[in-house]
Amino acid sequence: MPVRNICCIGAGYVGGPTCSVIAYKCHDIKVTIVDLNQARIDAWNSDNLPIYEPGLDEIVFERRGKNLFFTTDVDGAIQEADLIFVSVNTPTKKSGMGAGMAADLAYVEGATRRIAEVAKSSKIVVEKSTVPCRTAQSMRTILEANSTPGIHFDICSNPEFLAEGTAIKDLLNPDRVLIGALQTPEGIAAQKALAEVYTHWVPADRVITTNLWSSELSKLAANALLAQRISSINALSAICEATGADVDEVAYACGRDSRIGSKFLKASVGFGGSCFQKDILNLVYLSEQLHLPEVAAYWKQVVIMNEYQKKRFVRHIISTLFNTITNKKIAVLGFAFKKDTGDTREAAAITLIKDFIQEHARVAVYDPKVDHEQIFRDLSEPGIVDNRKEVEKHVTICASAYEACHDADAVVLVTEWDEFKDTALD
Ligand code: UDX
Ligand code: ADP
Repeated sequence: MPVRNICCIGAGYVGGPTCSVIAYKCHDIKVTIVDLNQARIDAWNSDNLPIYEPGLDEIVFERRGKNLFFTTDVDGAIQEADLIFVSVNTPTKKSGMGAGMAADLAYVEGATRRIAEVAKSSKIVVEKSTVPCRTAQSMRTILEANSTPGIHFDICSNPEFLAEGTAIKDLLNPDRVLIGALQTPEGIAAQKALAEVYTHWVPADRVITTNLWSSELSKLAANALLAQRISSINALSAICEATGADVDEVAYACGRDSRIGSKFLKASVGFGGSCFQKDILNLVYLSEQLHLPEVAAYWKQVVIMNEYQKKRFVRHIISTLFNTITNKKIAVLGFAFKKDTGDTREAAAITLIKDFIQEHARVAVYDPKVDHEQIFRDLSEPGIVDNRKEVEKHVTICASAYEACHDADAVVLVTEWDEFKDTALD
């Protein structure tokens, strides 16, 4: 049976753009994106969408109210749907077993239980959020244990590979779409039904079908391999700075080898974003659980190198400014974790600015998309009132790059926004 009605649970950075593009490309499918967060849904229904992604506005405005809907009526949307994407947040656990490494699956579990409780007909349930390997198995157990008799659930894993800032481009023209399912007749039929949604616009040879566990692991593996390239070039950048080699030249020379390739070899202050660190730590945790300590240590080093790169950068700034930045003005250009997004999760700017504050510098921040309150929230430790005051004492948020740089002792370019390339400093 072809899919006619899709529900997406979670109107975040992944669910929102992905399912908006499905609605845009499949006019014969009704797509309802739901979230518990009323403010977020209100924003999706307004002129000011809660997420900044180039090209997203046009797609949402064209299909909203036609075959694309945003609502907090989670139960209603679950009941109507033939296929449900679970696209909720899976942050790294802050406490308990696996704290600091394992993914917190409370939201996935909450959404799965809701599906089991309210569904009145059989459904395909698709795990879209990045999850540890074998989560689909837990989802299946929950669905089977809690559902109404006669109702059947098939589970697919369909990890999202979009990168923020280019989400729409990536969704419209993906390198591949990966769909994992149990290799039973029902599982294969569900896999085929989901594949048919994508082949509305994605060439069939780019839709890869695998077993469930391969699909789940591929997402973690792809992110780990990408992050590993960045840590590798960043490690080389330290050698370059010590020897007089130019890391861009080294990256170019290495990248021209077609076996290595030129992408993702840009040395940086360290990678940020909600995925890389989280997914590698997930892989580390999985390796430890599987009693593979050497494998765990291998991947962990990618994260250790990333932290080292940020600290090295701060040390370099301090030593350049004669070993003290007390009361000096440091302009920080860019706060988002990369250009063309307002997302600040794990942004390198957060670590750098916290270090500058520790050193009693005055910090002037400018970012074209991140809102001021978000910057203060990211820099303050939650629950510590005095810390927020301390942050406000040291940090000023500016309306332009020029304002931030005025009279600054150092200009720190953290995010590669295009407008900074065109900003000429006097
Ligand atoms: C990443 C993956 O690319 C995507 O496939 C997955 O679905 C989610 O995680 P994202 O985190 O949105 O996407 O952005 P990405 O472009 O991968 O950049 C991540 C971080 O790496 C950014 O902080 C970026 O500045 C940094 N980076 C990227 C580098 O430092 N050097 C590079 O060469 C490339
Ligand atoms: P991602 O980057 O993975 O998309 P986000 O945090 O941006 O993550 O979005 C996840 C969304 O999922 C949040 O808006 C959150 O409110 C929503 N969410 C979490 N649990 C549920 C649930 N049980 N039902 C509906 N929405 C949920």
